[in-house]
Amino acid sequence: MGEIAIQGSIDAVRLDVGSSLEANRKSELGQFMTPAAIATFMTSLFSAPTKTIHLLDAGAGVGSLTSAFLDRFQGSTASVEAWEIDPLLKMVLADTLASYARAGLASSIHNSDFIEDAVWNISMEGGQRFTHAILNPPYRKIKSDSKHRYLLRDVGIETVNLYTAFLALAILLMEEEGEIVAIVPRSFCNGTYYRPFREQLLQSCAIEHIHVFEARNKAFSDDDVLQENIIVKLKKAGAQGAVTVSESHDATFSDYHERALPFGQIIKDGDAERFIHIPVLANAGDGTHGLFSHSLKELGIEVCTGPVVDFRLREHCRAEPESGTVPLIYAHHFSDGKLVYPKTHKKPNAILLAEEARKWLMPKGFYVLTKRFSSKEERRRVVAYVIDPNELPAPFYGFENHLNVFHIAKHGMDKETALGLALFLNSTVVDSHFRVFSGHTQVNATDLRQMRYPSHEQLLELGRLSTVEVNDQAAIDQLIKEVETRWPSK
Ligand SMILES: C[S@@+](CC[C@H](N)C(=O)[O-])C[C@H]1O[C@@H](n2cnc3c(N)ncnc32)[C@H](O)[C@@H]1O
Repeated sequence: MGEIAIQGSIDAVRLDVGSSLEANRKSELGQFMTPAAIATFMTSLFSAPTKTIHLLDAGAGVGSLTSAFLDRFQGSTASVEAWEIDPLLKMVLADTLASYARAGLASSIHNSDFIEDAVWNISMEGGQRFTHAILNPPYRKIKSDSKHRYLLRDVGIETVNLYTAFLALAILLMEEEGEIVAIVPRSFCNGTYYRPFREQLLQSCAIEHIHVFEARNKAFSDDDVLQENIIVKLKKAGAQGAVTVSESHDATFSDYHERALPFGQIIKDGDAERFIHIPVLANAGDGTHGLFSHSLKELGIEVCTGPVVDFRLREHCRAEPESGTVPLIYAHHFSDGKLVYPKTHKKPNAILLAEEARKWLMPKGFYVLTKRFSSKEERRRVVAYVIDPNELPAPFYGFENHLNVFHIAKHGMDKETALGLALFLNSTVVDSHFRVFSGHTQVNATDLRQMRYPSHEQLLELGRLSTVEVNDQAAIDQLIKEVETRWPSK
């Protein structure tokens, strides 16, 4: 809830401040602010942090990007360093950051030239380094005899535009494994002048994700920016694997689709220019892409809210399993992805297999469950578990109302489909998808019904490969990438 409110208000600030900026200065300093939906999408591309966050926002404007970042990582210990050269915007930025003040969050604003300060930091032993950078840098040519050009040369950066200068500096300022998400013009991908920049980027970072807006001017439509912008996610010193390429027509992301592509399709072998190719995804816009190709209906699978509302069936609920009862499963019965049943808890563990309760129960089988409410601390919005009848030998199960239940005609499904579906639901791609499409932290059956899923064959393959723990995010994502790369979109 807080997330929508804050994101909503930062967008109002963006529009308000944006329209009052003086046109010359706006163009001189590249003052085009990021709309909230794009900021949220950009933030969704970061992996869950494993240590204290040190965030860099260079050219922060009114703070749209940092604001989205802090909304996503609400509970984390973090320090934020934001640079904004314009004194007016700096004041608004200070208000934005003040609205996030809490224990465990330190922020500082530098009302100075990021290029000067960054060059200083990079050259200095023990200078600041960052774990995350979120950027929408200014874009303007850097003249060959300018102060900026000379400063950049001091740290080995040879580039012709402010945006590549900001990105190159951010790369140098990152710790190993640090992640950068930036929205930038597409020109660096193939302009000859940008070759030294591409070399630096490819030498020091893995490209993990590239997002393209299909309509040329749709990223910054409020500002009439005709520039073709892309979003890139880089990982400093990361191992280069497949690259996720995604597309959406515009900043609403309503037709978002993505595919993992082998790196060889992005940078061609032996290309001395190191051009970055961004393949157009096949059948763009028709929803049949990679692992998001089928509706649940097409798969014959249904999802509903857990049918047992405990206070309505109070007289049938039992604290512990006893003769004549069957398991009543709550979200708390899962701990670190594993079923812990029965569990000592104020809620009941069992339900009487009585006539009146029977219609709310489902027969023994494999089911996939997801929690409807994820806590702030949870790394993912969607957390899925498989009910395995071998672990829960009972003729029927009760699923409590705070869970969503995937079933086939109110029965279970085959083991591989269930394992594959849970693996898919636990992946980072689904998490990002959810963060973009759903403004709230609840995961309702309706949301799950609207999402698209892998084909049945893909689910079976995922199921066969699924030996990984629910908590091993890297292993889950690796399997998803493998299957996605093997199955071209239709
Ligand atoms: C494209 S805007 C993006 C603002 C914000 N990051 C966002 O996404 O809404 C770039 C910002 O960089 C600021 N800027 C331009 N040159 C700068 C410099 N040398 N150092 C620090 N900030 C600068 C501009 O005033 C502007 O607010």
